[in-house]
Amino acid sequence: MSQQLNLDVRETIEKLRKEVEHHRFQYYVLDSPEISDADFDVIFHELERLEKEHPQYFSPDSPTQKVGSAPSTEFLQVRHRVPLLSLANAMSEEDLDKWAERLGRGLELSEEQLKDLKYVCELKIDGLSIALTYKDGKFVEGATRGNGEVGEDVTHNLKTISALPKELSAQATTYSGGLLKVPDLLEVRGEVYMPVSSFTALNEALTDEGEATFANPRNAASGSLRQKDPRKTAKRKLSLFVYTAFVTDKEMVDPPNHYSELELLKLLGFPTESHSKVAVGIEEVKAFCRDIDSKRHSFDYQTDGVVVKLDQRSLWNALGATSHSPRWAIAFKYPPEEAETLLEDIQFDVGRTGAVTPVAILSPVKLAGTTVKRASLHNADQIRRLDVRVGDTVLVRKAGEIIPEVLSVKLDKRKDDSVPFQYPTTCPVCGHALAREGDEVAFRCPNTYGCPTQTKRRIEHFTSRDAMDIEGVGEVLVDLLVDQGLVRDVADLYRLDAEKLKGLKWKDKKSGEAGKEKQGSKWIENVLAALEASKNRPFSNFIHALGIRHIGSSGAELLADRFSSIDQLETATDEDILSIDGMGPAIAQSVNEFFQSDLTKKLIADLRSLGVQMKVSDSEIQARNAIEKTLTGKTFVLTGTMETLDRAAAEKMIKERGGKASGSVSKKTDFVVAGASAGSKLAKAQELGITVLDEAQFKELMGV
Ligand code: IVH
Repeated sequence: MSQQLNLDVRETIEKLRKEVEHHRFQYYVLDSPEISDADFDVIFHELERLEKEHPQYFSPDSPTQKVGSAPSTEFLQVRHRVPLLSLANAMSEEDLDKWAERLGRGLELSEEQLKDLKYVCELKIDGLSIALTYKDGKFVEGATRGNGEVGEDVTHNLKTISALPKELSAQATTYSGGLLKVPDLLEVRGEVYMPVSSFTALNEALTDEGEATFANPRNAASGSLRQKDPRKTAKRKLSLFVYTAFVTDKEMVDPPNHYSELELLKLLGFPTESHSKVAVGIEEVKAFCRDIDSKRHSFDYQTDGVVVKLDQRSLWNALGATSHSPRWAIAFKYPPEEAETLLEDIQFDVGRTGAVTPVAILSPVKLAGTTVKRASLHNADQIRRLDVRVGDTVLVRKAGEIIPEVLSVKLDKRKDDSVPFQYPTTCPVCGHALAREGDEVAFRCPNTYGCPTQTKRRIEHFTSRDAMDIEGVGEVLVDLLVDQGLVRDVADLYRLDAEKLKGLKWKDKKSGEAGKEKQGSKWIENVLAALEASKNRPFSNFIHALGIRHIGSSGAELLADRFSSIDQLETATDEDILSIDGMGPAIAQSVNEFFQSDLTKKLIADLRSLGVQMKVSDSEIQARNAIEKTLTGKTFVLTGTMETLDRAAAEKMIKERGGKASGSVSKKTDFVVAGASAGSKLAKAQELGITVLDEAQFKELMGV
């Protein structure tokens, strides 16, 4: 090979290494991938191929020699006892055959023995890997993968996942691997994921609030698990499957094979994925992969492949691992599903806050298990970037196989008379001029109270489960009520009566035309009862229901903690709001603007006269007042992991007693509460001579 060519290869390798590093950073640290997994795999494999063909350019720093990306610095770091490896990929059945051949050679098996080799096939859950530590059956620490060696401590956030057992108990005394008990020390590995249903609901809520949505459940799970405030994680409805157990115990040993490992985990109370199966010989593995491919789109979790592992764990040691992945396992990956179709139109959805989102209207096309008729175009910038035009043939792909998106335009199929798409300058519903504030990506319709769609979505939000929880009053009924002039704002909901509801003309399901009255009166009774019951919802629900910009349900809780009635909240100054931990100037401004509006003032007066409770209830106040403000003026810093209290609960106790919880230790800190594996904050406290409390002492101080 000529000098020149070799130089080119080296440059290409360097360039690919940089690209891979960049995309890993986007994916693992920022939760914001710029390219699809499949495109990433192409770059990664090209780099691997070149490095293999040109071993003279080997570098231990190449991303092919490392797993994942550097951990983000926002959480405490945890060094994994056993590194978390990644998996090699099989992109085709042929790759599976090749892998089986390698196993045969590596283990020196005869053809017959290779045919009888046992594998465990399990779904490759598209979430993020985590390592969980249990001491004497208690969950004490959980960490993300990070770079495989060092991950992030996300213990508190993991505790909010209901599927994660906090305390183990053995549901039998033996299992197929021998003695069964709660091990002295147990490390469990698995995958945290966001169920597809929660993901869809989350993105709908984000769209309503005019916020950026997540591209797929994996990103949503990762973003949610790495929230600084565990309360936010708790709202995100994450779940978990586990697949690895490392046992350290006086009487028990590691399970002898992988299938028994899954059984052990199940009997200790962990969630394991139910499709896992033992396959004998690689042909059965392939059949499993095909079978799952035909079903996987109906599961409530995303699977992008099948993980195939040798069943017998002693063979794992015999085969070992490369720096990147074990030789005894492989990930069979399904190809991403894409389809070509005609872009018939570009329409616009208007959300509760006026955010206007472009939607591609497509000629129906089959894709990843469903018929796709609409796809996201994200925003005006995306339309410009793709130069997508009505009448184009476009390539659609399900990003993470959930929400279809327009990937690219087939320029060779573009019609001669096509014209660039003109992004509208006015609201498609009410005609008001659109606006874009600061660095916002979405255009908004500023006609907050005059735009009928915004009114409908605002009322629907008011009735939603996390808000006033008015069962039976959802999108369909709200649209009818507004369209037929019975409801103009949320106060009108409480002015509804049987007579008005009875006269409502319901839409014909087929024609979409408003037609007949609904039969029977049971539904009317139910709606009126639900409305009546909603008058006494907790104050935080009411604040959330108002739909103030930037105030979601956790913001509403913070406000309800600080202000106990609508009168107090209405008159709160910017300073009052800024004094709440976690509330910044944008929130203060938004709250104040909301309450200064004459329309809000009228709405609140109306709701008051209609009997809606807009305050913290007497019983809640009594409970709050019963706590003496013993810690007024005292500042606490919490660090490390406590056994029985999570951070949010501890912070609440401090605040209820008049104290403050802060994130960093300084001379002004009065107490540092140090749980297990406390690190630099504890050291700093000792250096500054600040009183350090352990968990028991903290609880004593709180009187609990
Ligand atoms: S086993 C050394 N099993 O896929 C064994 N991983 O590409 C490594 N994953 O980092 C993991 N489902 O986050 C294993 N059933 C499963 C899995 C699984 C999803 C993820 C895991 C891993 C990545 C490897």
